[in-house]
Amino acid sequence: MSLPVIAIDGPAASGKGTLARRVAAAYGFAHLDTGSLYRAVGVLLLRLGKDPGDADAAAKIARALKPDDTILTDPDLRGDEAAQAASQVAVVPEVRAALLDFQRGFAKHPPGDARGAVLDGRDIGTVICPDADAKLFVTASVEVRADRRLKELQERGIPAIPSDVLEDMKARDARDSQRAVAPLRPAGDAFVLDTSAMNAEEALAAAIAHIGSKT
Ligand code: C5P
Repeated sequence: MSLPVIAIDGPAASGKGTLARRVAAAYGFAHLDTGSLYRAVGVLLLRLGKDPGDADAAAKIARALKPDDTILTDPDLRGDEAAQAASQVAVVPEVRAALLDFQRGFAKHPPGDARGAVLDGRDIGTVICPDADAKLFVTASVEVRADRRLKELQERGIPAIPSDVLEDMKARDARDSQRAVAPLRPAGDAFVLDTSAMNAEEALAAAIAHIGSKT
């Protein structure tokens, strides 16, 4: 019998990562932040002195990525440079193909004694796990998301200009939703959760109510 899988997609700073961690903890499921895979490929590429647009080098790195690689927990992955590089390597079809097996493997055989898996990203419900037991598409207005990102940067002591954060957010949204392969969009059967006016507790309660109705 296959274990339950929950797919959580959405744009940057929508709150999907926090929500995915909390949903996983609530059910005793393993959690995979799939954005960290694309970030890892982007950071490794930069460390090799390559251009983030170098498709061949990016695909080679993606094919070699393993679940226990230390790069996946490297603090450099959280920076904005990593985020921009990630969204550039994410448009390369060979990179996406290489990371597909990694993600499906996690969904099918979650690590440890987890009783299921939660994957969050951009294309989990549409491409990676189209048969997921429950699908959530978490969103919020671009202004609310830029404001959240700004606060997060300030808390980490990183100086940022509000208008630049908003422009970066819009640029990443455009790249993620307009790319030819696996663009960011809600799956037809996804529950759309707009967190613009919600705190993390309210988002979790809404997600659990939806998942409960599906499983
Ligand atoms: O979610 P996060 O902001 O860490 O993702 C970084 C970038 O990785 C995204 O902007 C997107 O381009 C890419 N990504 C993706 N598909 C996923 C997860 C992330 O294309 N499933």
